[in-house]
Amino acid sequence: MLRKTRILGTGFYVPDRVVTNDDLAKMFDTSDEWIYQRTGIKERRFVDWPMEGTDMAKFAAEKALEDADIDVKQIQMIIYATLSPDYTFPGNAPFLQSKLGLQECPTLDVRNQCTGFVYAMSVADQYIKTGMYDYIMVVGQEIHSTCLEYANRGRDVTVLFGDGAGVAILGPDDRPGETGILSTHLHTNGDFAKDLWIEKVGTKYHPMITHKDIDEGFIYPKMHGKRVFIKAVEKLPEVIMEALDCNGYSVKDVDAFVFHQANLRINQFVASGLDIPDEKVYNNIEKYGNTTAATIPILFTEMKEMGLISDGKLVMVAAFGAGFTWASALIRW
Ligand code: ACO
Repeated sequence: MLRKTRILGTGFYVPDRVVTNDDLAKMFDTSDEWIYQRTGIKERRFVDWPMEGTDMAKFAAEKALEDADIDVKQIQMIIYATLSPDYTFPGNAPFLQSKLGLQECPTLDVRNQCTGFVYAMSVADQYIKTGMYDYIMVVGQEIHSTCLEYANRGRDVTVLFGDGAGVAILGPDDRPGETGILSTHLHTNGDFAKDLWIEKVGTKYHPMITHKDIDEGFIYPKMHGKRVFIKAVEKLPEVIMEALDCNGYSVKDVDAFVFHQANLRINQFVASGLDIPDEKVYNNIEKYGNTTAATIPILFTEMKEMGLISDGKLVMVAAFGAGFTWASALIRW
């Protein structure tokens, strides 16, 4: 008989430096009004040199361990989701492992962008269910600020993103009945892979990178914003309903919705289409922007602090992002 997985604790860290829409408007042609109306973002956090992504993850991990009341030495695996690792390779997981003093525990890096945390949580769930590991640290962390183009050419993407880290500690759930992670549903459609991507540096090129590539901006993220929007509002309701149907629940049964924060308008569209009342949704994009893989664990922590998530509540997690990938998790917290 399979075990069940529970989220035992969560924590997050965002850098101190607040960058407002007005700050961005000093660097290129944009405005607080344009950004806020289209995305719901007012400000985001950017790291300052020399803080590394894995430093942010370590701060978040310490809070999550405390929240879970788990000693770091009990962690048997780290699964780390990021699209913005500190170095090209290895991924961030080994660096965090070393900083946490967990030498020899296995690590796994996940590259699934905005759904990275849900994918990572799903992987951790399988290991715990089968009994291979008891306690797994699941990390979502991004430093976007050093990868963006602060010029008119990249402004459609630059205004969307912020830096941050979030961590959840997952472990076995020995409560009776239907509790813990009830299901995860994961999807990808690679036909859209080039609609939100960074083309270079890429190993398919000889040489991998040229001065011309840098001048022409191939090193910055490029996005077909409208296509992302259209697919997100189609696939998020689908993957939410897939999770509810699989578990025999309806939208009304859910106590709290944890939506990835790519654009407030996407979330409002999805919520109104599914008749989800405002009080069951919490959006924090206004203060952090899109923190990609870090978004979900940051939301978990803030929603717990606000009382929106607590033991026994039915929590629906849904995310959509580059790949395109989309995913949901239904959790009896
Ligand atoms: N400030 C001011 N004007 C801008 C900006 C800016 N930052 N960016 C673009 N514009 C201009 C454009 O140049 C265009 O001008 P034009 O009409 O003179 O050509 C105009 O604004 C409208 O541009 P659109 O791209 O049509 O704007 P749209 O209404 O589609 O909104 C947006 C753009 C907000 C990006 C929207 O498409 C969106 O939110 N898409 C989803 C994005 C998303 O979710 N991405 C993240 C997933 S993240 C992940 O997986 C890593």
